[in-house]
Amino acid sequence: MLSFYRSSLALALWTLSTAAAQTFEYVVVGGGTAGAALAARLAEASRSVALIEAGTRYESSWPLAAIPGADVLPVGSDPETNMPADWGFVTAPQPNANGRRVHFARGKCLGGSPTIESLAQWAQAVDDESYTFERVLPYYKRNAHFTPPNTTSRLENATVQYNENSFAAGNGPLEVSYSDFAMPFSTWMKLGMDAIGLPEAADFNSGHLNGSQYCTSTIKASDQSRSSSASSYLDSATSTTLTVFDRTLAKKILFDAQKNAVGVQVADSWGTLSNITASREIIVSGGAFQSPQLLMVSGVGPADELRRHHIPVVSDLPGVGQNLWDHPFFAPSYRVNVETFTRLANDFGYLAARSLEYIISHTGPLTNPVADFIAWEKIPADLRSDFSSGTQQALAAFPDDWPEAEYMSGAGYVGNFSNLLTNQPKDGYQYASILGVLIAPTSRGNISLQSADTSDPPVINPNWLATKADQELAVAMFRRIRQAFASEQMSPVVIGNEYSPGIATQEDAQILNWIRNNVMTLWHPACTCKMGVASDPLAVVDSQARVFGVKKLRVVDASAFPFLPPGHPQSSVYMLAEKIADQILSG
Ligand SMILES: Cc1cc2nc3c(=O)[nH]c(=O)nc-3n(C[C@H](O)[C@H](O)[C@H](O)COP(=O)(O)OP(=O)(O)OC[C@H]3O[C@@H](n4cnc5c(N)ncnc54)[C@H](O)[C@@H]3O)c2cc1C
Ligand SMILES: *[C@@H]1O[C@H](CO)[C@@H](O)[C@H](O)[C@H]1NC(C)=O
Ligand SMILES: *[C@@H]1O[C@H](CO)[C@@H](O)[C@H](O)[C@H]1NC(C)=O
Ligand SMILES: *[C@@H]1O[C@H](CO)[C@@H](O)[C@H](O)[C@H]1NC(C)=O
Ligand SMILES: *[C@@H]1O[C@H](CO)[C@@H](O)[C@H](O)[C@H]1NC(C)=O
Ligand SMILES: *[C@@H]1O[C@H](CO)[C@@H](O)[C@H](O)[C@H]1NC(C)=O
Ligand SMILES: *[C@@H]1O[C@H](CO)[C@@H](O)[C@H](O)[C@H]1NC(C)=O
Repeated sequence: MLSFYRSSLALALWTLSTAAAQTFEYVVVGGGTAGAALAARLAEASRSVALIEAGTRYESSWPLAAIPGADVLPVGSDPETNMPADWGFVTAPQPNANGRRVHFARGKCLGGSPTIESLAQWAQAVDDESYTFERVLPYYKRNAHFTPPNTTSRLENATVQYNENSFAAGNGPLEVSYSDFAMPFSTWMKLGMDAIGLPEAADFNSGHLNGSQYCTSTIKASDQSRSSSASSYLDSATSTTLTVFDRTLAKKILFDAQKNAVGVQVADSWGTLSNITASREIIVSGGAFQSPQLLMVSGVGPADELRRHHIPVVSDLPGVGQNLWDHPFFAPSYRVNVETFTRLANDFGYLAARSLEYIISHTGPLTNPVADFIAWEKIPADLRSDFSSGTQQALAAFPDDWPEAEYMSGAGYVGNFSNLLTNQPKDGYQYASILGVLIAPTSRGNISLQSADTSDPPVINPNWLATKADQELAVAMFRRIRQAFASEQMSPVVIGNEYSPGIATQEDAQILNWIRNNVMTLWHPACTCKMGVASDPLAVVDSQARVFGVKKLRVVDASAFPFLPPGHPQSSVYMLAEKIADQILSG
């Protein structure tokens, strides 16, 4: 008798595991953003589906997960960060971040969907017209249930513009809205952005990312709790054909002699091995780090990397684990005269009162995911003219509507992000930052194997700031953030000179060195099992997410993106899961 932990998920079947019960039509590996959505859609159509997830319900192992304001706690850069529901991944030493090793949390500001031209580029890269903006729009809309902002509870000077048409009129499982509590600092950042040429935008979910606006969050309007793929798709699944195996680690994909993927070898939490077989297909949704890892340990990947670990080659695909994109950021900080996260972190009585407020009435600052206001731009001409010709050329490869910079509100001190809670300065001042996020990065990292066993983490090398273009872009963005804080419009809120790094940091080289010491990830790794045409040497999956060189195997998650589109990835991960689910069901 096999003993799997049964998931606590509402409608998962409790099957006593007999040999016969271990075959499903579809086996989905990974119950994250893509995997939960895809498994739920297949099961809704009465297909029998096994969902294999190494972790367990985020909300049950980390009770604060439901509180939007607690988002900043488990995600610091400190390599020793040790939180439940986190794999504890740490990067390899980063040569262009002064050799630092950085904790890479893995899992709600939605941040906006990609632009029209970036999706045209996706369609072109994979030679499939069904990826153009018009045609994927229904998949972007399908998952969400949108609730307009609460104008009664929000600050009068924090009015949100939004476009309800960007979301389906229906009832997607994912709750999308705005915090009832606007961060006061965001009202000032808005003025600063306007002052430097980023005026208020209509919204960020209609194919345009330009200018500034409050961002939608995956937040449930009625009780201001966080909405995730597990809490949304799986809880609302009304199917009885979905079986969730949580605390179950996929060790290997099993192939038959014809290279059909036929099963997944898994280990339960005691390490007992067993096989779960699929009569139709296996779908890998392990995320940008672990999907390529699982493929490689199963014999699908660069032949030399596989041989180094004595793994028999099933399909030699040089692109597996390569082409890693990410959105790195850094954040200068200032003293300000509005209340920020600094007070929550340093004033225990205040935190306790606000926590009580959250628990009793679901209101107050803890309903805010801390970063609630964002802005997008291409670097304007005056700073652009300082770019080397190589950088100008590299940036010209991005479409006209693809922003290079994202600026995010960060109502607190950031520094190197090692631990936002303990690192707030304790001098009685309130702190605020504007994060600069590289949205058109040209450095590419990679994922390789530490061993042939998925119990060991893969080697994660994001390679941030490796190109001159990224370095020059980062310095220009830093100067833009300074311009905003120095604007007359922001002067009433700013106290004194820049706090971090401080006004002594002036030369490009000094600024770059400070950025290297503080660069952090916005946790958007992607593209390590790149979608592309068969003739693309780095392509791992075709436009229907089918892995080249084998049969009955797909990769559906952020790793399958051909490139990381501008905006934040979550909406595109859902889009891809919905689109491929549709194809599987109709195909
Ligand atoms: C702290 C943080 C904040 C973020 N904020 C935002 C945001 O505001 N907006 C936004 O758009 N995006 C945000 N993201 C990014 C977004 O969450 C990811 O892009 C998205 O979740 C990727 O989805 P995925 O399905 O590719 O992978 P994941 O959601 O990572 O899912 C992969 C799943 O597979 C499981 N798994 C992996 N290997 C195995 C194995 N061998 N066996 C069994 N299970 C396995 C993992 O446990 C995980 O549950 C954030 C990410 C983090 C970490
Ligand atoms: C962050 O800065 C602190 C204090 O300067 C230092 O101890 C720590 O090692 C740094 N962490 C990272 C990840 O750079
Ligand atoms: C908006 O907020 C107010 C004040 O907190 C609250 O009384 C009201 O119920 C909220 N409205 C909605 C639609 O949630
Ligand atoms: C907006 O209103 C809040 C609450 O009164 C205040 O703290 C903040 O400073 C105001 N912002 C601006 C730009 O005036
Ligand atoms: C799982 O499948 C592999 C490969 O077909 C086989 O070698 C192994 O014995 C199977 N394990 C179990 C527990 O059935
Ligand atoms: C973005 O907005 C700026 C200022 O409003 C405008 O000059 C620019 O043309 C816009 N860019 C795009 C791609 O729409
Ligand atoms: C990953 O990238 C680093 C830095 O660019 C390089 O040194 C290393 O050889 C690469 N590893 C693999 C497996 O591609």
